[in-house]
Amino acid sequence: MFITFEGGEGSGKTTIIDRVATYFKNQYKVIISREPGGSFIAESIRDLVLDPKHLGMSYQAEALLYAASRAQHLEDILIPAMETHDLILCDRYIDSSFAYQGLARGLGLEYVEKINDYAMQHLPLKTFYIDVSPEVGLSRIKDREKFDRLDQEKFSFHNLVRQAYLDIASVYQDRIIVIDGHQSIESITLEIIKHIEGLFNDAN
Ligand code: TYD
Repeated sequence: MFITFEGGEGSGKTTIIDRVATYFKNQYKVIISREPGGSFIAESIRDLVLDPKHLGMSYQAEALLYAASRAQHLEDILIPAMETHDLILCDRYIDSSFAYQGLARGLGLEYVEKINDYAMQHLPLKTFYIDVSPEVGLSRIKDREKFDRLDQEKFSFHNLVRQAYLDIASVYQDRIIVIDGHQSIESITLEIIKHIEGLFNDAN
């Protein structure tokens, strides 16, 4: 079961994924991964695309690098894991490209689909979008020591990203579940665990 997690900055995704994995790992074979990155070469592409020195990176180059990282990650980690694991939890996937590059950067959803053709053939079964307002999300990350290139975007950009995710969630209603990210991490984790348990029950 391939499940992805999406959300803006400070949505708590990473902590939530860890807790969901801990919950299921007694019973199932679970793997966690992330994008951009997730494998050796894909992590090198991550360093390139998120480097704060690369302020002049064009939107197209950015979109293509995320797509390249994803293609490598699929080949190295995700596709093999589909054979060997019961549950794959991935921190970000193609919906990040739809939201950030397709809508917030304005490259269009069709363009993102085209350059992510390989990933379009391997869409997740379900995607949890953790929805938080940028006010709350950015205040949660303000004490971080390291800020990457996208963290440094203006507030208005993060608002655009949030709206973009909500639009994409309505396009992919059957796949994307919107979770209210203003709840406690415990409540969010529990809500997601219940959904995934339902999926396992349906599959058995
Ligand atoms: P990361 O530190 O992983 O962010 P977070 O902790 O918020 O998940 O950095 C990933 C950044 O890359 C984040 O700002 C979102 C952005 N991104 C895209 O713009 N497009 C993509 O396809 C992906 C996977 C990420």
